[in-house]
This record gives sequence, C-alpha cells and structure tokens, in this order.
Amino acid sequence: MTLAVSTIQKFTCNPYLLFLDRCQTPVELNRRLLKEQGLDGKAVAMDLLEAKFEKFDLILAHSILLYFDPKDIGSVFAKWASLLKPGGRILISNIVGDESGDRMGENETSQVERSIELVLQTALSLGFTEDEIVRIRTSCEKSFSKKFTDFPLVTLNEIRLAMQEARLSVNTLNTYDRSQLSQRGPFTQGLSYGGQRIEICGIKL
Ligand SMILES: C[S@@+](CC[C@H](N)C(=O)[O-])C[C@H]1O[C@@H](n2cnc3c(N)ncnc32)[C@H](O)[C@@H]1O
Repeated sequence: MTLAVSTIQKFTCNPYLLFLDRCQTPVELNRRLLKEQGLDGKAVAMDLLEAKFEKFDLILAHSILLYFDPKDIGSVFAKWASLLKPGGRILISNIVGDESGDRMGENETSQVERSIELVLQTALSLGFTEDEIVRIRTSCEKSFSKKFTDFPLVTLNEIRLAMQEARLSVNTLNTYDRSQLSQRGPFTQGLSYGGQRIEICGIKL
C-alpha cells in the first residue's frame, strides 16, 4: 500500500485517503503510515460489505477478491460501485484462476517466508513493539497456511460479468504470470502464488 500511496502522490496534490480492512493489524499499520508520512486520511476497521461512506474518485483493491467465494463477488463489485463517483475509477489487482473451480493450492515455502518478511519489515519500520511483531508473525504464519489459502479462485470471466452487472466498464486490463511479477508497478509487486495475476482498471458509468 505504501507503493500505491507514493504513486498517487506523484500524480495528484494531496489526496484524502481512506484505508479499510476488517482486520485490526493492517488498519494499525496504515494508521501509522498516514501519521508517519503526514498524509491526509484515516484507517478504519470495517467489513467492506458494510461500509457506508461519502463517494470516492478512486478505489484501490489489492488481493481482496481472493477472500470471497467466486459466487459472492457480485455483492463486492456492487458495493465498490456504490462507493464510486460517476466517472470514478477502480483499480483491482488479484490472482485469477484459468477455469471456474481452480484452487489456489499450497504456497511455496520461500514465497511464504518472503511475504512474511515483508510484512514484518514494514511493521518494524513503523515502530511496532517486539511483542506486537511476534504476534504479527504468528498470525501471518497462520494466514499463509494451507487451511487458509486453499480456496477457489475467481476467473477473469466471472470478474467481467460482475463488473458489468455493477455498471463498471473495463478501461484497461493486464495479466501477468508469476515469472513477470518482480519489479513491476505497485500492484503487480503484491504477493503472488501460482497462476496469473490481473490488474484491471474499471470506470463507473
Ligand atoms: C492480501 S491483503 C491486502 C492488504 C492491503 N490491501 C495491501 O494492499 O497490502 C487482503 C486484506 O483483505 C482483508 N479483507 C478480506 N475480506 C475483507 C472484507 N470483507 N472487508 C474488509 N477487509 C477484508 C483482509 O483482512 C486482508 O488484510
């Protein structure tokens, strides 16, 4: 998210930022990030599907769809669309399956370790205490375990349909396979597992 923020800052003056996550740890990370960088905005712990706010010009949604069953993504896109101004944009980055029913499967150990390291480094740089770091590591290890990652992946087609139903038109669409991921922009640099990662920019009609 730090990378996304610095990219936004390059192109706009001083955006008002709202970070939303249902989990307290990323909310606290983002709260400290806002303070540290003197950014205008707030971080709130809330379920996306229950969110009610003023409308936004831009929504960034990184690796959120993978937390939803593919059959439920219609409500996610409807919620995002309701939070966007007409003409507003949504930038989504997510892993996708080739076919309906494809699963994420187990992660490679090295990938998991790298991901956890990244989270811990960020927490350290933001001044989390040693006790907090230990707790974050434990919950990272849990959340990267097979139990939590072996779920069905949404396909590009399912995403397109959900976007259409939410009156979001696809503006640009990029797909990357894992070998192309390193050193890409803020979004593709996000953690990836097997399969393809997509970046879609949609516009609210
Ligand atoms: C892979 S992380 C990405 C975190 C962050 N957006 C980033 O770019 O670093 C996905 C996040 O989605 C959050 N999440 C999953 N379902 C959610 C929901 N229904 N409402 C709010 N947050 C949710 C999880 O708690 C998790 O922190």
